[in-house]
Amino acid sequence: MTPLSFAPDSDDATPLFALTKAELKDWLEGQDDAVTGWVARMDFSAAAGTVLPVPDANGGLRMVLAGLGSDTDARRGRFHLASARAKLPKGTYRLAYGPKGDALDEAALGWLLAGYRFTRYAKDKPVKAALIAPEGVDATRVEAIAAGEALTRDLINTPAADMGPAALEAAARDLAAEFDARIETVEGDALLDQNFPMIHAVGRAAAQSPRLIDMRWGDTGARLTLVGKGVCFDTGGLNLKPGASMGLMKKDMGGAATVLGLARMIMALGIPVQLRVLVPAVENSVSATSFRPQDILTSRKGLTVEINNTDAEGRLVLADALALADEEDTDLIVSMATLTGAARVAVGPDLAPFYTDDDGIATALGDAGAQVRDPVWRMPFWDGYEAMIEPGIANLDNAPSGGFAGSITAALFLRRFVEKAPRYLHFDIYGWQPKPAPARPKGGVGQGARALLAALPRILP
Ligand code: BES
Ligand code: ZN
Ligand code: ZN
Repeated sequence: MTPLSFAPDSDDATPLFALTKAELKDWLEGQDDAVTGWVARMDFSAAAGTVLPVPDANGGLRMVLAGLGSDTDARRGRFHLASARAKLPKGTYRLAYGPKGDALDEAALGWLLAGYRFTRYAKDKPVKAALIAPEGVDATRVEAIAAGEALTRDLINTPAADMGPAALEAAARDLAAEFDARIETVEGDALLDQNFPMIHAVGRAAAQSPRLIDMRWGDTGARLTLVGKGVCFDTGGLNLKPGASMGLMKKDMGGAATVLGLARMIMALGIPVQLRVLVPAVENSVSATSFRPQDILTSRKGLTVEINNTDAEGRLVLADALALADEEDTDLIVSMATLTGAARVAVGPDLAPFYTDDDGIATALGDAGAQVRDPVWRMPFWDGYEAMIEPGIANLDNAPSGGFAGSITAALFLRRFVEKAPRYLHFDIYGWQPKPAPARPKGGVGQGARALLAALPRILP
């Protein structure tokens, strides 16, 4: 059993009662004196994330209670059963009482994700408690979602020295091999020959050559193209980031990691779509060959772009990939990117801001995000700001001065490269959990993927 899957059914599993504060009183009424006495003696109130082992007369474990907290706790946080997992005594548990409906799915996923560890460079304490798949939970689905999320986290957490463009390509190739997907890449000078000038310009200063990864899976169903920002490290380029801002920039391939994690979920679950995943994989580095401020690049689509800040590189590599995506018929194009610091300022690390002109998609996505506890928030494609990305001596400006509405202007920039697709959705994600929270240790984290997966049946034709 891996920590990210459920335990096989067994008769001698310990009963686990997961209770909200409100449920505790009623539940106690059905219990014998040994249990009610122990709960009172130990002052257990079902506070979120707390655990109470209840012994039997022989010093064995009769049952364990896990607190899910109050309604306020449920509104303020997520995955409260996940925090209980780490505190449980070693053993296999069966959920004898617990949440219902969507909350049960949340509890089951949180349980699995609490088993995630990033162990590539150092051992970490493995979890000791296992759970039999609770009745009413689609165990295969929850396990597939957890595995996709774990892939996203591993990719983000791996530092750039071991997750450069070549390693990101290798990770995509491994994923493709696992699910019989087709995969091709265009690398180095071939990017120029095949007309991806902006991917080349951003990535050409790095030791590892820039590349475009193109993966396809599935032959029937709606055509879904995911495009993920794969900037394996973002120094800012010649407009070098100050140290504090550069510190986390191994995560600048978070969009790529998230679309690969989502692709893994889709393929593992056999969702009937024609999936394409495009990842421009580059390092935004500094050398004599760096692109410069005031260079004017001609993009794949033919639009010229004045570089006013080499640190606004994500929109450049995405623009060429989006232009390619838009050259064939699709039903939905989605981009995911750690695109702007402005998005983080606007909504913080917990919410995934997204842009779309399609009200139906926005509603479906918002509802799905709330349902699966992957919160997303709609932002405006505000036409009134289009002029901000028009510099004068080129068609587009990659970094409007003034910095107003930085996430919106970046999104508007990307939208210029999608004309044909009937639906376009863009996420400006953070991709990083700054402080440990239930089911999410500090480090890389997927955002928006689970919401999108849940919304797909409502979004795709
Ligand atoms: N990768 C950054 C955006 C980023 C920074 C995401 C911090 C999450 C946390 C991106 O390439 C960038 O540097 N964007 C600039 C754009 C600006 C120069 C127009 C930004 O947001 O400051
Ligand atoms: Zn940047
Ligand atoms: Zn970046």
